[in-house]
This record gives sequence, C-alpha cells and structure tokens, in this order.
Amino acid sequence: MKNKIIIFSNIKGGVGKTTLCALFASYLAERGYPVMAIDADLQASLYRHRKREKDVAPEVQVPWNVDLLDTANRELLERVMGKLKEVPGVVLIDCPGNLNDRNLEYIYKSADTAIIPISFDADTVDATGIFVKALKTVSAADLVFIPNRINTSEKKSEELRQRAQT
Ligand SMILES: Nc1ncnc2c1ncn2[C@@H]1O[C@H](COP(=O)(O)OP(=O)(O)O)[C@@H](O)[C@H]1O
Ligand SMILES: [Mg+2]
Repeated sequence: MKNKIIIFSNIKGGVGKTTLCALFASYLAERGYPVMAIDADLQASLYRHRKREKDVAPEVQVPWNVDLLDTANRELLERVMGKLKEVPGVVLIDCPGNLNDRNLEYIYKSADTAIIPISFDADTVDATGIFVKALKTVSAADLVFIPNRINTSEKKSEELRQRAQT
C-alpha cells in the first residue's frame, strides 16, 4: 500500500485530536489497512492511554501500536520523518495543541493530510484560523476540518451562529 501521513493537529487543546486519532487508527485497522500511530505530543496522552489499557487488560490484542516521537532533536526527527515516509501504510501522527514545541515544522511539511478538529465557539474558530495560517507556511497538506465536541444543549444559538459564520 502507498504511504500516507495524516496528522491530527490544531493549536487548540481539548478539541479531540487524540480521540479522533485513536478512533481513526481503529477504523483503518478493522478494515485491514496497515496503520501505525505516532504520539508527537509531549503530554503523550495517546501513548499513556494505550499503556493504561494494556495494564488493565493485558490479554486484549490491539490492532495498532503507538510509538512516541520526541521532536526536540531536529536531526533525529528529520531522519524519523524520512523513514515514516517509506512505511507502506497509513501513519497517523497525534500532534501537540500548540505551535511552540520544537521542530514541529518537520512533521507538518511531511503531512499529506491534516485532520483539524474544531468546535463552534469563537475562541476555537479564531485559534484554528491562526493555526491554519501557520500550517500553510510550511505544509501543502490537504486540510480536513472535523466539527467535534458539538454541545447541543448549552449556548446553542451562539454555536449555530458561529457555525454559520465559520
Ligand atoms: N466527540 C466527542 N464527544 C465527547 N467527548 C469528546 C469527543 N471528542 C473528544 N472528547 C473528549 O474531550 C476531551 C479532550 O479530547 P482529546 O482528544 O484529548 O483532545 P486534544 O487531543 O485535542 O487535546 C477528552 O476527555 C475526550 O474524551
Ligand atoms: Mg491530545
């Protein structure tokens, strides 16, 4: 299978990057696609969740693995990204919710597709705009915006207004 690098990214935290990354990894694996997941977030949520799951239920076979990727060492990161580009399958990279971690541009510029979860509140929409602008300076990735964490009970009119505006 052809290589595809998909990043889950936004400057905003808590929009669902890690959740969507894990769900999509399972979706692809269940359909027989070769998939690997990379946790490039210093908080390592994806990696830690997986470790906790394994501790609780060691007998359960999981169809995809998570590897940690430290972005601090530029040379190492460049080398790893080069190798990930050769993987015959889909590489999902869970990115941090900021633009400040070191050398993130090396991940962004390798991406074929960027999955960008958003929610329809003014703060997230503004932050996403800032993120997309920065992303586009280094990356030609296709952008896929995923409305997520839509709260249907609270502040609904504001959400609908923001949604229409977005
Ligand atoms: N569609 C959803 N519905 C309800 N809760 C969600 C949804 N997507 C994410 N969450 C929850 O929101 C929180 C933040 O999600 P997470 O994936 O960790 O965001 P991020 O990686 O962008 O910081 C988590 O507690 C997660 O379980
Ligand atoms: Mg996360």
